[in-house]
Formats: sequence, C-alpha cells, structure tokens
Amino acid sequence: MRKKIIAGNWKMFKTVQEATQLVVGLKRELTDYVAVDIVVCPTFVNLESVSDLLVGHNIKLGAQNLFWEDEGAFTGEVSGPMLKAVGVEYVIIGHSERRQFFHETNETVNKRLKAALKHGLKPIVCVGENLSERESGRTFDVVKNHVTGSLAGLTKEDMAEVVLAYEPVWAIGTGKTASSAQAQEVHRFIRGLLAGMFGQDTADAVRIQYGGSVKPENTAELTSQPDIDGALVGGASLKVDSFTAIVKNAR
Ligand code: 13P
Repeated sequence: MRKKIIAGNWKMFKTVQEATQLVVGLKRELTDYVAVDIVVCPTFVNLESVSDLLVGHNIKLGAQNLFWEDEGAFTGEVSGPMLKAVGVEYVIIGHSERRQFFHETNETVNKRLKAALKHGLKPIVCVGENLSERESGRTFDVVKNHVTGSLAGLTKEDMAEVVLAYEPVWAIGTGKTASSAQAQEVHRFIRGLLAGMFGQDTADAVRIQYGGSVKPENTAELTSQPDIDGALVGGASLKVDSFTAIVKNAR
C-alpha cells in the first residue's frame, strides 16, 4: 500500500513571521496525525525557522528547488548540502513555474534530481501539460516527455526515494481542478510509463501526487482514485484551516 503524501508548496509567500505563525497553527492541528505523510515547503529564507519548529515532528520540511553543484560561484543558488544542513528532507524539482519562468528544462530537472538523490533528499518531481498542449491533444506526449526526460538515468533504487507530482498547468492557481477522472487517466498513464522504465514493482511503489487547485472540498474525491497518492497544494496550503482539512480529507 502506498501511503498518501500531502505537501504544501508555499511558493513565494510568507515572511518569516507569517511562516512561523502558519507552522505553529499546523502543529496545533496535526501533531501526531500520521495517517498521511505531511510536508511543508517554505521559501529558502524561511527554511531554518520552520525547521527549528519542526524538529522531531511528523510534519516534514521540504524546499522548492536546489542547484546541482555542492558549492561554487553560482550567485543566487542553494545546494543540496545546504538544504540538508538545515533539516530539509524533501525538495520540489521541476515545478511548472520553474519550467515556465526560469527556463527549467528536462535536462536541468534531471541534474537537480540527481543532486538531490546524491545528498539523500527526497525529490518531488513535477510534470504536466499546459492548456494549449491539452487542447491540441498533446497531454500524453508532453507528460511522457517530462517523465522520461526528468527521470533519465535513474535506477530502481533511486525511484524508491522519488515522489512524482502531476500538475496540469491549466489547473494551477486557476480554480479549475482537473476532474478526478481526468487526473486518474494521466496518473495511470504515468504509472504505465514507470513500469516500462523501471519494472512493475517499482511503478506500483512510486507515489504520484496530483496538484492544481486542490481544496478541502475536492481532496477526498481526487485522492480516492486508484493512482492518486496525495496532493501538492499551492494556495490552500497557506492557511491552517484549509491545509489541515486537505490533510484530513485525504483518503
Ligand atoms: P494551486 O493549489 O494554488 O493551484 O497550486 C498548485 C501548485 O502549483 C502546487 O505546486
């Protein structure tokens, strides 16, 4: 059985005071709630304060990106060892906003992914089509390209650490959720791709989150689909009540 995993991607929101307040609220609601894995992903500057609040807690800490070199003259970047040193366990890689606004490609996603694995971080690798790709019938081609390109060169052992997130770009921050049937169709397709790349046992074990306008009201329906193993939540992860409800509604 795959354990559900609910992760909050806080994107570029929250000052350190606001981040701290949010975590204090989440701890009040979710301490000892272990029915699903819970992850919060603040901005880099807030990782350390949030980490201090989460020492030994069932809510785990994630970052939103990492660079592939360990150190060097790479202004503005943050490395795997730096994330590990502040208690980060998970790291989002290849989010569509990185692909769209910061020229992330499958190749750079793959390099970041290998760096995360090398340093014992658990990657959450994002894939998904945009609106014009969906409307022109290219969803499966795009998703296949993202999955095979991003995961190139990984072993079955590597895949034991990886979480995938299917995030249709047209559903992110738009209030338009993919229907559970639409999402399940793509999740099943991704699992089939993983079976071809790594074998059925590995494919059956990998968790695939759905992301895109996940709310308390649609969580149960989405996460009860056979191939949907949790959610990567943006906007609704920024409030204690909505994120708590999403965690508790995950089936
Ligand atoms: P929203 O939940 O705000 O649509 O964002 C989804 C997302 O991009 C999570 O990574």
